[in-house]
Amino acid sequence: MLVDSRPGCADFLPKRAAMRIAVIHGVNLSLLGEREPATYGTMTLAQLDAEIERAARELGLAVTTEQYEGEGEIVRALHRARLDADGVVLNPGAYAHYSYAIADAIASIAIPVVEVHLSNTAAREEFRRRSVTAAACRGVVAGFGADSYRLALAALAKKP
Ligand code: DQA
Repeated sequence: MLVDSRPGCADFLPKRAAMRIAVIHGVNLSLLGEREPATYGTMTLAQLDAEIERAARELGLAVTTEQYEGEGEIVRALHRARLDADGVVLNPGAYAHYSYAIADAIASIAIPVVEVHLSNTAAREEFRRRSVTAAACRGVVAGFGADSYRLALAALAKKP
């Protein structure tokens, strides 16, 4: 077979920069690994972040990960993301169930935000079945452990 190794048009086009995704973990997720392992598993936050980075590499995404206990810190991280990122994966932790401030911050930024939960919040206590932040998000992935984050990254990777 004859192979033409001459450069084609595509070789001269500037390479498209990787889509940048900010992964924001919320309150109490710093204690993953020791916190309620029957519900959240034994993976630490550092191990989860390593999984997220691996998944992002496979999807061709540039990812940053950060974790905050405070509601205001999460709001500020969302504000920053609108300038630094093309999309956000957000696990608000318990704030999902009552933080109108985080819901407003999500609605205030134009980039897509995907809410994730490690556990299936719909199958847990009554107060966890409602997320006030989800309505402002592009979508929600819950119940798949670390895979919730991978699925959220894959969903964002499909967006132009
Ligand atoms: C969680 C679910 C929330 O209800 C809970 O408050 C968390 C973790 C999850 O990832 O499953 O802190 O967001």
